[in-house]
Amino acid sequence: MTLEEKIGQMNQLDPSWNAEEKEALIREGRVGSVFNIVGAKELNRLQRMAVEETRLGIPLVAARDVIHGFRTIYPIPLGQGASWNPEMVEKAAGLTAGEAVSAGIRWAFSPMVDVAHDPRWGRVAEGYGEDAYLTSTMGAAVVRGYQDNGMAACVKHFAGYSASEGGRDYNTTWIPETQLRDIYLVPFRAALDAGAMSLMCSFNDLNGLPSSANPHLNIDILRHEWQSDALLVSDWGSGSDLVPHGLCADKKEAALRCINARMEMDMQGNIYTDYLAELVAEGKVKEQQIDECVRSILRLKYRLGLFDNPYVPETQPVAYSPEALALATEMVEQSTVLLKNNGILPLNIQHSTSLNSPYGFSRSFEALPRKELSTLNILITGPLADQKKEQLGTWVFDGEPEHSITPLMALKSFNLQPSTLNITYVPGLTYSRDKSTEGFAAAVQAAKKSDVILFFAGEEAILSGEARCRADISLPGAQTQLLAELKKTGKPIVLVVMAGRPLTIGAECEMADAVLYAFHGGTMAGPGLANVIFGKAVPSGRLPMTFPKMVGQIPLYYNRHNTGRPSYDPPMLIDSIPIGCPQFSIGQSSYWLETPTEPLFPFGFGLSYTTFEYGEPKLNEQMVNGKMVNNFTVSCEITNTGNFDSYEVPQLYIRQLSGELVRPICELKDYQKIFIPAGKTVTVSYQLTPEQLGYWHEEYSYTVHPTPYTSHQLWFATDHTDFQVWIAPDSRCLTKPVTISY
Ligand code: BGC
Repeated sequence: MTLEEKIGQMNQLDPSWNAEEKEALIREGRVGSVFNIVGAKELNRLQRMAVEETRLGIPLVAARDVIHGFRTIYPIPLGQGASWNPEMVEKAAGLTAGEAVSAGIRWAFSPMVDVAHDPRWGRVAEGYGEDAYLTSTMGAAVVRGYQDNGMAACVKHFAGYSASEGGRDYNTTWIPETQLRDIYLVPFRAALDAGAMSLMCSFNDLNGLPSSANPHLNIDILRHEWQSDALLVSDWGSGSDLVPHGLCADKKEAALRCINARMEMDMQGNIYTDYLAELVAEGKVKEQQIDECVRSILRLKYRLGLFDNPYVPETQPVAYSPEALALATEMVEQSTVLLKNNGILPLNIQHSTSLNSPYGFSRSFEALPRKELSTLNILITGPLADQKKEQLGTWVFDGEPEHSITPLMALKSFNLQPSTLNITYVPGLTYSRDKSTEGFAAAVQAAKKSDVILFFAGEEAILSGEARCRADISLPGAQTQLLAELKKTGKPIVLVVMAGRPLTIGAECEMADAVLYAFHGGTMAGPGLANVIFGKAVPSGRLPMTFPKMVGQIPLYYNRHNTGRPSYDPPMLIDSIPIGCPQFSIGQSSYWLETPTEPLFPFGFGLSYTTFEYGEPKLNEQMVNGKMVNNFTVSCEITNTGNFDSYEVPQLYIRQLSGELVRPICELKDYQKIFIPAGKTVTVSYQLTPEQLGYWHEEYSYTVHPTPYTSHQLWFATDHTDFQVWIAPDSRCLTKPVTISY
């Protein structure tokens, strides 16, 4: 390959605009990858230019932001995280790849595995929540699902992007190296271990150094420590962004910083095409550096089989198969989180009817105390009840809203034979930010004639995702006001929230009799929610992020440190401080004057239509001289004590009680999603290895002789100390722990 041909491979372009100019570049062999072009025919046309018209005939690789589905849209990744079901997520990724590959796409810009502690950040919608382990399992599942079905994954954004100050996108991040390694890097490593063929740089500067120019991340860690040979692509122009970052004086210097940090492919930044050859000629860049990058690019193309089969069959594209639609529906059921229920849900009124279950089991409803009605009058209201586009969520380029089934559509056609559903639809508000109260009177009027109100609240899709950060994460527009008006009718209210992030909905939860948090559920949000509402499916989602009570609590996440002065109970809140209260210096503790440290809902939380009882945990240790050696097993019995067959998500948490550094008050180490029939008891058990108990240590040692200097050491180790271990239904860890000594 000539130098020009190599640099051409390092160039990724979006030819959807300036097509003529960009096609000329493809013909000259100056493009390695295209993105944002969809369709076998069109991509084959471009591919022919690369394969047949260039000297070497190296195929292009076609990329796309395939984030949570291609045509069939599944719940947003945050919702998928709430499913706590990686097998299901993997299957959805596999079906997604099937659809995308049939449209010519061979490289997806996902999964996004940025662990996020800040719901203001719009991109929380795109990730799997606040926990590194949960995110790792989901990210790895997506990688397997894509790559087993012909589409390369691109794990993003490497690294630390989600820790942006103030939850404002692209903003600076300051992450100590130990935290980076304990949390932010963990899912990247897991995705690479699952075989991820590529990663994407992040936009942020990490401790002052933007990722595209960060040799510590991209070379020391990725190449040397992890021995990864995955391709590293920039984010959109993240290389040329080094100029506005204030790192580089001009784009030429940016190209030099990026190649020295082994950013291998330049997405839409043109810095490599414009300056690399010049930098080589000036002796500032060695051709060997370029070879390393090109090798990664060609490797990805080989792995995808593009050299053997560069073209896509121009047959009917795969889309909306019955299998995909059924899975999308089931994923809505499994990712919807029941946050509150005073008994009104499920709304099924035919207790003796056995409904068909997508899981192949049926449930009896006899035990539920319900008013026998032959007709159920339902008012459907709220701005998200019938929004085909909005329910798809952020990052939907290829999903078509006309294929969405909304909650209104699904509820209207729900067959509750022999009972009759009488549905009235009065939206009250036309979109989530609507502030007009004009529609309130009609909604209230209709509410008075109904037995129950189903209020579909939330955010439009465009309010979350890239660059869609919010400083106020309450329900937008006049939704809360409408809810308050409806509450005055005295009719029971079921609140269903469809949003791209956790929202501060404490007051709304108070007003509602039941609350379902549904995120943005995708194409089949309607049928999935209707099944949950009528009890055809039992909601089994668990929160992948802590829900704060108020925005001032952010960042609020479950695996925080305790502080030396944990919040006492009850804390002295602002109105209980006596007027003229003198300064005092004892009894201070860590909280805000407006609220204790407790969240509105904790990480891992979610109710069910049934109840579960956790038994005493049992410990089985492999000990040598009183110390745990290889691993230990902790198990407990869980009984479904209610009337519904249901999934439960027992979560394994640990807490290290002392050690070389302060450790979190609890950390998720494992989980399962298990199905427990009503009345049945199962035993769940988890294995823990010493490695799972370990963390990154850091030490500064000062030496006076011969020349005074401080050395900085970083290493992974497990402290010899005591650990509490819980199998618990959520991160509050209210079940009994066992203690192990290591
Ligand atoms: C985003 C990436 C995305 C890329 C390509 C960027 O703005 O940060 O996540 O894959 O655009 O569309």
